Amino acid sequence: MRLSLKSDKWILPASVPAMSQTLSSADPIVCHCLKVTESTVRDCIDLYGAESVQEVRSGCGAGSGCMACRRRIQCLIDSQRSAAGSSEGG
Ligand code: FES
Repeated sequence: MRLSLKSDKWILPASVPAMSQTLSSADPIVCHCLKVTESTVRDCIDLYGAESVQEVRSGCGAGSGCMACRRRIQCLIDSQRSAAGSSEGG
């Protein structure tokens, strides 16, 4: 499922629990400025089809501050793409 990007903002259902930003040691913070965890960024990539740092930023806010987390976000995008590509094999 992909949601469209309108007005530079992702339209997310209000009832999406996966987008919550719970803090735990098992779920490291990727973006310290916005307190966005790795699982939230991964959800943004997996569930909502974010394919760039800009789309992740629009979707969950990660990277909206000092932008020091851009490389971490890009690494998560790349790893999710690799995982998706290897599972599509065939
Ligand atoms: S650490 Fe992500 S914007 Fe600053």
